[in-house]
Amino acid sequence: MRTEFEFYCPIRIVTGVGESQKLDKWVKSFHANLVLVIADAIVAKTDAFLDMINSMKEQGIAFEVFSDTIPEPPMELIDDLAARVREQAYDLVIAVGGGSPMDTAKAVCMLKHNEGRMKDYLFGGSKTPIHPSIPLICIPTTAGSGSEVSCASVIEDTEEHIKLSCTHPNLYAKVAILDPLMQKGMPAMVIAGTGMDAMTHAIESYTSKNSSVYTEMYARKAIEMIAKHLPVAVKEPENLDSRMMMAQASTLAAISMANGGLGAVHGISQSMGGVAHTPHGITNAILLPKVMKYNYKGDMDKFADIAGLLGVDTHAMTTEEAARAAGEYITRLNTELNIPDNITSLKVTRDMFPDIVKGTMGYRLLWMNPIEFTEELGYRILGESL
Ligand SMILES: [Fe+2]
Repeated sequence: MRTEFEFYCPIRIVTGVGESQKLDKWVKSFHANLVLVIADAIVAKTDAFLDMINSMKEQGIAFEVFSDTIPEPPMELIDDLAARVREQAYDLVIAVGGGSPMDTAKAVCMLKHNEGRMKDYLFGGSKTPIHPSIPLICIPTTAGSGSEVSCASVIEDTEEHIKLSCTHPNLYAKVAILDPLMQKGMPAMVIAGTGMDAMTHAIESYTSKNSSVYTEMYARKAIEMIAKHLPVAVKEPENLDSRMMMAQASTLAAISMANGGLGAVHGISQSMGGVAHTPHGITNAILLPKVMKYNYKGDMDKFADIAGLLGVDTHAMTTEEAARAAGEYITRLNTELNIPDNITSLKVTRDMFPDIVKGTMGYRLLWMNPIEFTEELGYRILGESL
């Protein structure tokens, strides 16, 4: 845990059933004249989205819709959409969907007043966003990515076949609206995968070498809430209470992540996503216990604490036994959520390992992992995950 740090969370979080149908007050508060709504194609066909759009029409909001976002957005899509956003008079963007539409929106809001293409702003690129983004409102339809409260936009560099992030305070949304009505109708596997992504954010940021007393507080509460509410949210998709609890837990985890960082699970998963196009949440869920099997040795007190937060009865255990039990609980939780326990199910094969390990070793946050992460350990974890 660090004793010298900064903690920053400049986002207005609004929660409530039906809040997504009260957008006129936000449009007025940003003095917006033309709104661009960015959504993915599946979300754009849902009743919840159409209700939101109808309420915008009734409120006299001038807007256009872009509903062709792509999961794990490639940089060409961002450049194309940025060209449209630069040409048109959009002065507010509303992103509706999971992590990909929100990442897309953060990127194009930034590119409106910053010249160049997306690749210039990705990790290792030649530019940083000097000029402010246009305002962004995020309405997540899944509880997990936490993109609504983070300043990172994860984009695929299709030339290098790797997912990279642009991370800058200018990318923060202005408002995050958590409305359980917008999270209706998600398939159980999406709820499970995104929920375990949030769990990974919480556990990795809690045990990060970059954690602080503030991030630990957010992460601990998120772990406890996700363990309690995710199984209910998966089994009872119409349960509004568990959806709201998961939405809130997801933002807690993401605020911790945005300030405290992540670790090897996201390092491997991000690299694997670029190489094999694996879905982010499920990939993290599979890798989390495989990495915890080694990481617990880096901070046994914290991993033992995690076991308690997950609901494991640790009273008769030594600290080391409790620390190991945390990862074992995650394995059981994955099983309960019908998440596979191997990366073979994601069509990852051994011949991809060199590229995945290479990408992992270049991960910007890898130093925060509780134990030193080596190439050898990367190959071992991947081998044990097949
Ligand atoms: Fe994530």
